[in-house]
Amino acid sequence: MSDLLANAAPSAAVLVHATQLRQQLLAHQHAYHVLDEPTVPDAEYDKLFAQLQQLESNYSELRTPDSPTLRVGGAVLPAFQSVAHKVAMLSIRTETDTTSQGAQAYDARMRKELELPESAPAIDYVAELKFDGLAMSLRYEAGVLVCAATRGDGAVGEDVTHNVRTIGQIPLRLPSDAPQVLEVRGEVYMARADFEALNERQREAGDKTFVNPRNAAAGAVRQLDSNIAASRPLSFFAYALATVDGLKGTVPTSHFEWLQQLKRWGFPVNTLTQVVQGSAGLIDYHQRVAAQRDALAFDIDGVVYKVNDIGLQRRLGFVSREPRWAVAHKYPAQEQLTTVEAIDIQVGRTGKLTPVAKLAPVFVGGVTVTNATLHNEDEARRKDVRVGDTVIVRRAGDVIPEVVSVVLDKRDGTPPQFTMPRACPVCASEAIRLEGEADYRCSGGLVCPAQRKEAIAHFASRKAMDIDGLGVKLVEQLVDAGLVHNLADLYRLDAATLAGLPRMADKSAHNLIAALQASKAAQLPRFLFGLGIRHVGEATAKALVKHFGNLDAIMNASTDDLALVADVGPVVALSAHTFFAQQPQREMLTQLINLGVHWDDVAPQNAQDLPLFGVTVVLTGSLTLYGRDDAKAALEALGAKVSGSVSKKTSYVVAGEAAGSKLDKATALGVTVLDEAGLTALLGGLHPPQRPQ
Ligand code: IVH
Repeated sequence: MSDLLANAAPSAAVLVHATQLRQQLLAHQHAYHVLDEPTVPDAEYDKLFAQLQQLESNYSELRTPDSPTLRVGGAVLPAFQSVAHKVAMLSIRTETDTTSQGAQAYDARMRKELELPESAPAIDYVAELKFDGLAMSLRYEAGVLVCAATRGDGAVGEDVTHNVRTIGQIPLRLPSDAPQVLEVRGEVYMARADFEALNERQREAGDKTFVNPRNAAAGAVRQLDSNIAASRPLSFFAYALATVDGLKGTVPTSHFEWLQQLKRWGFPVNTLTQVVQGSAGLIDYHQRVAAQRDALAFDIDGVVYKVNDIGLQRRLGFVSREPRWAVAHKYPAQEQLTTVEAIDIQVGRTGKLTPVAKLAPVFVGGVTVTNATLHNEDEARRKDVRVGDTVIVRRAGDVIPEVVSVVLDKRDGTPPQFTMPRACPVCASEAIRLEGEADYRCSGGLVCPAQRKEAIAHFASRKAMDIDGLGVKLVEQLVDAGLVHNLADLYRLDAATLAGLPRMADKSAHNLIAALQASKAAQLPRFLFGLGIRHVGEATAKALVKHFGNLDAIMNASTDDLALVADVGPVVALSAHTFFAQQPQREMLTQLINLGVHWDDVAPQNAQDLPLFGVTVVLTGSLTLYGRDDAKAALEALGAKVSGSVSKKTSYVVAGEAAGSKLDKATALGVTVLDEAGLTALLGGLHPPQRPQ
């Protein structure tokens, strides 16, 4: 078809189409290389690129000098010094057929170009990973890294030496047997774990997240401030040699030998790089790597095949901007376009509400994806994802699929902005976002079916109600069997029902019932901690009970009342208050009490009223009248704080025998020093006369 049309004049429609493609591609190139803000997934770009290439090969007059097909892409930012590459940084031809036929076609082409007869033995290839980062050229003179440059337009790149020096894996100095001049090419990338951690940090700081590891790496490399680059962990793999001058010893004759040499000089070379034979070897490699792709520590978008023998490479030579001897064989893309059909709210086991985009099914990174996380309210707003939008979805490795950005050009009208619901979609309890947190959480806790299992297991745990034998597995079994819906149901279980469960012996059933029975004689602080109120840990539960004395008082306390408790700030106060304000929670507590859960109330104690409130004591040396722990407990019971180090704020230092540096420090700071008799007086509430202000 293309041969037939090669000499015909293009129709007006074809001319318009070519112009549109050219403009689109140039805009995408600009967004990708200059703004670091890709507007379409790679696969979409490749498709448009291939369409233009096809049109240009059909009608030679369409090959304008500014065609994006003639450029490697990219631009040189004025902010950086430009570097003219002494050896052009080439691109490689892409085999878009992701099946094994892609490898077969390449091998057939090589054999044909080399005019090998059918009987000739298989060609040796080096098969490598195609790292999804950005190409980098590293120049060493006299063994020292003197320049690191991006590809730019292939002929001229940007000098990013200051940032590349921060990449730990890149040698700054080579061993003494290195040649006088060495220019190495490779890929700077960001490992997936580093990328996830970086985005997590960005999210927490309320900053913009990066769309993918490649983009994050490109952004880091092109920072003007190398401190920023240094804070974004980058890695490197070497994959080619560009220049060598003054090589000592024998000259490698194959690409693989060169890679081994680079490794000896200290460059990271990926361990999956291998020599394979003929098309069978290539196909096998393609399949083996595909099976490992998700488990790799970094993104790859394919594999690269290179003719191993340097002599054969020379014979094959180059076509325009690509070496004839190499090809990239792609895998299914990890980013695709699809549309958002709805935005649902998922409730996690700990009550976290996550907005999730429901997508028109799309094949990404080897699987069909229908859901993608939007993380939290701020993230959903920042990306401004709306129902009906066309979005780029990314799925790489085992990471959950994610919406990376909206294709605004394709938005239809003005769909409403996304807003986070104020009620839990599962249990209708109030959803709250505490100050300083990114997530909304359901305040339903124990009464929310989504959180049931986690909450019940927490209630039963050792530091809470300590119900022996009721672990996470059994809780799951009880909930899944429909026997337990809430905490109260635990106390409605009987041995016969339990014994009917799979893998449950009679004896275990009876033991569990006995443990449940025993747990009814509870302690209020443990019970309170067991309710799993966010931010109410063991210490806070104790402090609340000490302050209020009984559950009713805690339940009816206002946030202001709660905030009066020692160590309870506004966030904790709001969390506790919201929990007890929910009707279902109050009902559940009544049920538990009706089923026999009980405890002894204590006399409310306002910390401020305690005799040693505001007093800080440091114990040092060996005490003969008191054990150290007893002394500490007795002081704390009176409201004192017992600290391990002496400062100006210390009220007293109690010095026993052989007291050392703490005593010296107390003397130096003028802190009152007590002996054991002084301690006794303190515990009796008798303050020594010289109590400091
Ligand atoms: S070789 C002369 N090998 O893919 C051949 N390139 O279009 C020069 N890439 O952006 C490239 N992994 O940065 C080669 N193992 C590999 C590669 C690789 C990734 C990138 C390269 C460039 C693109 C090639």
